[in-house]
Amino acid sequence: MKIDWANLGFNYIPAKSHIRYTYENGAWNSGVLSTDHNITLPIAATCLHYGQAAFEGLKAFRCKDGKVRVFRPSENSARMNLTLRHILAAEVPEEIFIEAIRRVIADNIEYVPPYGTGGSLYVRPLHIGSGSRIGIAPSDKYEFIVLVVPVGPYYKAGMKPVDSLVIEDFDRAAPKGTGHIKVAGNYGASLMPQHITKERGFQVPLFLDAKSHEYIEEFGTSNFFGITKDGKYVTPDSHSILQSITNKSLMEIASDMGMTVEKRPIHKSELESFAEVGACGTAVVITPIRKILIEGKSVFYGDECGPVLKKLYEEVTGIQYGERPDKHNWMLEL
Ligand SMILES: Cc1ncc(COP(=O)(O)O)c(C=O)c1O
Repeated sequence: MKIDWANLGFNYIPAKSHIRYTYENGAWNSGVLSTDHNITLPIAATCLHYGQAAFEGLKAFRCKDGKVRVFRPSENSARMNLTLRHILAAEVPEEIFIEAIRRVIADNIEYVPPYGTGGSLYVRPLHIGSGSRIGIAPSDKYEFIVLVVPVGPYYKAGMKPVDSLVIEDFDRAAPKGTGHIKVAGNYGASLMPQHITKERGFQVPLFLDAKSHEYIEEFGTSNFFGITKDGKYVTPDSHSILQSITNKSLMEIASDMGMTVEKRPIHKSELESFAEVGACGTAVVITPIRKILIEGKSVFYGDECGPVLKKLYEEVTGIQYGERPDKHNWMLEL
């Protein structure tokens, strides 16, 4: 295994192994590590036909003291179970979720990027219905798989702001639909708006609420937050957005820094009132937004990352790499 740590992107690279637990006859088995990166499924599996497919995403870091730690895995466990309850799939007890992460990382420890490279090990829990059904019904058999991929820093040359396009012809999630959970189908539905965004020369789509198209929801795969001109952290409150663990952490950090944090509906006319806007999520932590094109009008935030976003980014990544105190106990040591 030879990895060019300096040039890692966010691309799939097969690691040594993945771990797989099977749920059958009402119980989870004890899980097996496998070096075969393929799985065999019945052709009538519910994950293939009826959308019983859920996933998560989190990261493990090689810290300054040489230890490997995972960022807030209990939060991902809780969110995966929220998703699973919604699609009537077998829940994964938190102990199994954490054990799976520990075992798969231990077996792939040489894939954790060294401290100082800015990389991390992306951990992808996947949960699929593997029992056969031809009428629509939940499966009675499931696979819980955790795979890992070494990934590089998003910002090799500093935090570079990107352009966002407000999507007018598509909605991400219905008001009482599945926007708040991480089902695979949400992402299938986002491929076309993502493609249109890129085709029009923008990097990230921004979705409005599906009912009125008046309120800001979230970016394609990250939450929206803005910093007001008087220094408040504001992020949308909506049932149809994914409750980002990065956003939750940034809200806590902002509040620790003495900032006022508001989680409330954000009307689209408010876009002009922000001094800085960021997209946040596990993969990139924070992506500064340079401009947003909404209904033919451009709102500009700046060619450089703003000072508040930079400060928040440095604090959260400092905690992740063990360079700053982890006072909320977010990091789980392996
Ligand atoms: C739709 C969507 N919103 C937000 C996020 C960010 O969530 P988190 O910070 O938990 O990665 C993600 C990524 O998981 C996402 O897919």
